[in-house]
Amino acid sequence: MTTKNRANLLYQLQYAVRNPAKVAPYARRLARDLILRARSRDHVSYYRAVMKSDTSRSAEAAVGSKSHDRWLALGKMQFDYLLEHGLKPTDRMLEIGCGNLRAGRLFIDYLEPGRYYGLDISPDILIAATETLATHDLQDKVPHLTPVRNLTFAFLPDSYFNVIHAHSVFSHSPLHVIEECFAHVGRVLAPDGFFDFTFDRTEGREHHVLHEDFYYRTETLVTLAERHGLQARFMADWEKRPHGQSKIRVSRG
Ligand SMILES: C[S@@+](CC[C@H](N)C(=O)[O-])C[C@H]1O[C@@H](n2cnc3c(N)ncnc32)[C@H](O)[C@@H]1O
Repeated sequence: MTTKNRANLLYQLQYAVRNPAKVAPYARRLARDLILRARSRDHVSYYRAVMKSDTSRSAEAAVGSKSHDRWLALGKMQFDYLLEHGLKPTDRMLEIGCGNLRAGRLFIDYLEPGRYYGLDISPDILIAATETLATHDLQDKVPHLTPVRNLTFAFLPDSYFNVIHAHSVFSHSPLHVIEECFAHVGRVLAPDGFFDFTFDRTEGREHHVLHEDFYYRTETLVTLAERHGLQARFMADWEKRPHGQSKIRVSRG
């Protein structure tokens, strides 16, 4: 959680003085993002281009892990949490923004064959996901991996998934993308199921940095979910984990 506004010029200047080595990489990212934004018709196309560029360098870094050990740890953290919350091998799981299966590989291994559905806006990261499946000998689990352009889930059945999971996805999403998800996720969620998502929480002003990282107040997301007939609650037990984001659990109202 933060009260800082990373989009504020004064904050950025003070940060640059304290971290001079980060100025050149930030300037490169700024220039790249300006070009990608100018070429993209909407946020999803823009972010897909960001992922293409990042994945071409390293798929693990593209999903936010600075090292392979961190990639393993972040996957395990997500898996352990859902296991503590009663995940069963017979559950039907949908992972929104599955990336290169940092956590997905553990869910796939644990669930019965065919019970895991991963979707992502980035074909490049989904190709990396297939490499993760091969590396971890998960072929027999026949998971479903699908590229999408939006979060309407139109190709998925009603009331099907007990567990829907989105980790570090809404931290990269403007509010209208989150709202599209809330407007449709209730249809594919089983009546007794839940949808967990993480977000970058601010107690100050909501803001974004380079249209890549978005900071929201808890009330904004809870109210938005309720507006779409969903119940939402802040998951305080996630806060103990060494992870900068917070978690909300949504269920059908
Ligand atoms: C930081 S990565 C996290 C990946 C995975 N959840 C994990 O924890 O390893 C964010 C992922 O979400 C995907 N993504 C971003 N916006 C999305 C959207 N609107 N719909 C589906 N996927 C999205 C990105 O392409 C990327 O693979």
